[in-house]
Amino acid sequence: MIQIHYNFDRARRRLGHAIHAKTIAYVGVFFAPSNSCRGAGPKNESPKVPFKSGSSTCYTHRMSSGIASGAETDRARNRRVASLVAALGRRSIVLIGLMGSGKTATGRRLALELGLEFVDADEEIEAAARLSITEIFARHGEDSFRDGERRVMARLLRDGPRVLASGGGAFMNEETRARIALAGISIWLKADHDVLWRRVRKRSHRPLLQGGDPEQTLRTLLEQRYPVYALADVTVVSRDGPHELAVEEAITGIERFLRSSPDSAPLAVRPKGIAVPHQQQGAGTQPFANQAQVSMELGARSYPILIGAGLIAEAGNHIRRLAPRAACAIVTDENVAKLHLPAFERALDLAFIRHSRVIVAPGEGSKSFDVYAQVCNALIGARLERGDVIVALGGGVIGDLAGFAAATVRRGMRLIQVPTTLLAEVDSSVGGKTGINSPHGKNLIGAFHQPSLVIADTDTLETLPPREFRAGYAEVVKYGLLGDAGFYAWLEANWRAVFAGGAVRVHAIATCCKAKAAIVARDEYEAGERALLNLGHTFGHALERLTSYDGARLVHGEAVAIGMACAFRFSARRGLCGPHDQARVEAHLQEVGLPVRMAGIPGWNVGPDAILEAMYQDKKVEHGGLTFILARAIGDCFIDKTVEVTEVRGFLQDELNTGH
Ligand SMILES: NC(=O)c1ccc[n+]([C@@H]2O[C@H](COP(=O)([O-])OP(=O)(O)OC[C@H]3O[C@@H](n4cnc5c(N)ncnc54)[C@H](O)[C@@H]3O)[C@@H](O)[C@H]2O)c1
Repeated sequence: MIQIHYNFDRARRRLGHAIHAKTIAYVGVFFAPSNSCRGAGPKNESPKVPFKSGSSTCYTHRMSSGIASGAETDRARNRRVASLVAALGRRSIVLIGLMGSGKTATGRRLALELGLEFVDADEEIEAAARLSITEIFARHGEDSFRDGERRVMARLLRDGPRVLASGGGAFMNEETRARIALAGISIWLKADHDVLWRRVRKRSHRPLLQGGDPEQTLRTLLEQRYPVYALADVTVVSRDGPHELAVEEAITGIERFLRSSPDSAPLAVRPKGIAVPHQQQGAGTQPFANQAQVSMELGARSYPILIGAGLIAEAGNHIRRLAPRAACAIVTDENVAKLHLPAFERALDLAFIRHSRVIVAPGEGSKSFDVYAQVCNALIGARLERGDVIVALGGGVIGDLAGFAAATVRRGMRLIQVPTTLLAEVDSSVGGKTGINSPHGKNLIGAFHQPSLVIADTDTLETLPPREFRAGYAEVVKYGLLGDAGFYAWLEANWRAVFAGGAVRVHAIATCCKAKAAIVARDEYEAGERALLNLGHTFGHALERLTSYDGARLVHGEAVAIGMACAFRFSARRGLCGPHDQARVEAHLQEVGLPVRMAGIPGWNVGPDAILEAMYQDKKVEHGGLTFILARAIGDCFIDKTVEVTEVRGFLQDELNTGH
């Protein structure tokens, strides 16, 4: 059954207030000048700081806590700066704004104040191209410049912290905005038209102001860009006056942002993922982060995977940054709709995002032609435009179904994955595989369609039935088995803590996402290495098909658990891996309550030929041959396309005879 709901109009009416409210909050931070000298004035006056303005040296005041009240001693100031820089971690501070807003001048002073490197992106572009920006525009055109700008920004954001003055158009690029959200804090230097015009009208080198009516061009740029700039983390009003004012307001704004943002923990695991080797970590002894961020690096289609508690409450802000003005259609199932849809819709309301919803029946049965067609029609009926966003809120079934709809409706729409099962958080929401089942087999109809963002709120796992959590854990184990023996050993020691939740669970999820992201980055379309992620799936998919995707008898993760145990038994039987590794795999899966034998499936009454036939319907069949992922050891799996069918048949016969 499909239910659809729209609340576009209510949100549209509220949309107008959003940007204004945020701007006002920062405009309120104002500085009152004073004439006292540094260190010499009465105790309650701010110390003076010398600065250059034009050719003369002037004096202004530092603000205490960003509010113009009370003095701040050097020691207090140093402490404040040190704690801000520590909280930044590897994030850079990125200044955005129109030409003439003071990004370079403010940026240089801010960098000096914080003891960070300052980089002007425009200068980097000019150095890389060995041409001035005007020359790049003239010789290669604006598109070429924007592309260079995007690449330079990606490089500069990679290894912060630094203070980065970006070109006026950089923040307009969606990929750059996503990268800044991932690895930076954005500060908009907001100046009104008259201030900007006064500052830039005599500067003939601004390529965008050449030709036509430059004042009108500036006005048009302001109208186009300000709604997007308003998505910045911090807004500072750029007035005529000393740059130190803007620096102080920027520092105050960053402090506020770091305090209020759920991402404000130092970036121990951002943006490069988990860094501490598993062997050194033990649950309860290591300071795991409550939030993690992993980057799926796919060039222009790169996206962040946010992992942690309470992220749904922040989802609206993340989506708005990524896709300003876009509407969202949330695809979910009945179970998730009852438990998590209200919180998700509330988050969208708070970010003034228009939304509609499509609710399908839970379970693998919804990955069907019929339901897919209904979802597509519902999305089209919701009058979604191509720039709007489809949100997959749910487990792997919803991710695959909504993802496939997003890949095909209007020839491809933006997708955001909000996984709510462990399986989906560690695996299916990442990497861009989408699809539905055919009566002939699993996932036989589908498309590669990467999301623009993954928001894995680990709080949602608290409502997951224990059986579903365990099933998802099979995919966690998979990442240890296929390529990370240290992680597998860590899981053997710490699985109870992973089941209990908190930061240890976040660490496990982030480790899996990081492993998957690395493999997908190297082999997005499964030309080779990505097939390793199918460990256990050649067996598992056949079992699912033979139980008619009946979630009561077998859910996907359980089928994968049996499949992985089969893969290790088959490998041991072929002399590829030792019996000790095979026994360890079975013991761990059984310890957490996962099945390891197909004969244990309720009502199972299937012979080896039926299993073989189901295997031959798998996507992984090539030139009539089966593909297996086999193991040399725990953490050392490989792809084998040379296995003889008679050997598989014999193995299956023995598996069925062995019973439980
Ligand atoms: N695209 C990929 O790369 C990929 C990878 C692995 C698996 N998959 C697919 O994922 C699917 C399995 O995913 P799954 O195990 O998440 O199944 P699922 O989506 O069916 O979810 C399992 C059950 O849990 C319920 N549920 C979901 N979130 C909940 C929550 N927070 N609280 C309570 N109940 C909740 C659902 O309603 C459902 O009944 C399979 O179809 C598989 O083929 C895809």
